[in-house]
Amino acid sequence: MNEHDSEMIIGILDQMNFTQTENKAEADLIIFNTCLIRENAENKVYGNLGELKELKKENPELIIAVCGCMMQKKEIRDIIKSKYRHVDIIFGTHNIHRLPELLSKYNQNDEMLIEVLEDSDHITEYVPVKRKFSFKAYVNIMYGCNNFCTYCVVPYTRGREKSREPEDILNEVLKLSKEGYKEITLLGQNVNSYGKTLDSKLTFAQLLYMLNEVDGIERIRFMTSHPKDLSDELIEAIKKCDKVCEHIHLPFQSGSNNILKSMNRKYTKEKYLELVEKIKKEIPDIAVTTDIIVGFPGETEEDFEETLDVVKQVGYDSAFTFLYSIRKGTPAAKMEDQVPESIKNKRFQKLLDTLHPISYNRNLPYLNKIVEVLVEGTSKNNESILSGRTRTNKLVHFKGEKSLIGKLVDVKINTVKTWTLEGDLITTK
Ligand code: 5AD
Ligand code: SF4
Repeated sequence: MNEHDSEMIIGILDQMNFTQTENKAEADLIIFNTCLIRENAENKVYGNLGELKELKKENPELIIAVCGCMMQKKEIRDIIKSKYRHVDIIFGTHNIHRLPELLSKYNQNDEMLIEVLEDSDHITEYVPVKRKFSFKAYVNIMYGCNNFCTYCVVPYTRGREKSREPEDILNEVLKLSKEGYKEITLLGQNVNSYGKTLDSKLTFAQLLYMLNEVDGIERIRFMTSHPKDLSDELIEAIKKCDKVCEHIHLPFQSGSNNILKSMNRKYTKEKYLELVEKIKKEIPDIAVTTDIIVGFPGETEEDFEETLDVVKQVGYDSAFTFLYSIRKGTPAAKMEDQVPESIKNKRFQKLLDTLHPISYNRNLPYLNKIVEVLVEGTSKNNESILSGRTRTNKLVHFKGEKSLIGKLVDVKINTVKTWTLEGDLITTK
């Protein structure tokens, strides 16, 4: 979500005739789009802002702006106001589209310009976007979250859930297809509750059927699904829509029913496992990935074992793993039995040791198989090696010409690793 917001910020600035630079010293404007989800993201911002003090002294014309989730918190704005006075403009998650006005309102000699809205019912359409890729695109389908998982700041920084009108989403996807985009990723904190705030009450499954009809778009992905809202109707839509990829990201966070309750996740381990079983039965080749938090307050060794048990029973293709991070203002931050860092770290390592061989095993069936790959770029270390993703979101490396970037190709897999597959180019489409 933040990455896509950054694409909008760049799109707005592009229209104002700014150009991008990698060199801070030559910038007229530096904007930090901040994240608050875990403490390390937050600390990084303070470090980065501190470093700019000197630069601002050397170049007083430089405008420094900070936006994003962190700016939604008054305490954090106060820290910036008192300790980072070289910051010029602060705005939040609900008013990115106001950036041109803020820049023109800002006066070098004035105080810090701050404009943050607590929440907004309004969805601003037609914000310019400068996308990172020319063949795959993020498309917001909804904003905010109503779930209030007890560890999470998102409902406080992104406000209440609101869905975008289906016509607006369709228009954006039609435009993307005309521009040659092949893959879209539909974004929402909980895509399964899409449509609840709309008069039409269109469901997420119905939205998928609608977008599946757009010519030119070859792949549809979506993030993120909350297990409590994943309907049979959606499973059927994933199965029936040929463009919807065989990959579901289904965060389970913890395998312990006590912890799930304390997290306010509204499902049990058993319900989650049943759901995954149903999905795998209906769509046998589907890749399942997840998010897991280790060391939530009150997590005992037995609770953690339940998490490992879910990992083993599901057999995840991959997982994002997080050490629980105290977020001020969330209910979990006030819970008494916080887990010591040393125990969290030990459990974290054990979790990785459990996950890795499972991911490797999930990749084994790809050996000698031909897979469709959307070529995304060259490998970091070797320009003659291309990298791309299968429909199941596996990273594939193979030899090929740079001109294939953005194209769909067939690759025969000859080597399987934990994180990647390697193969030979067979055909281009
Ligand atoms: N501590 C650790 N991980 C968190 N996440 C969200 N909040 C926290 C937190 N306070 C993780 C969850 C979520 C993912 C986006 O980030 O696993 O699914
Ligand atoms: Fe955070 Fe839970 Fe909403 Fe996801 S569903 S954004 S974890 S509150």
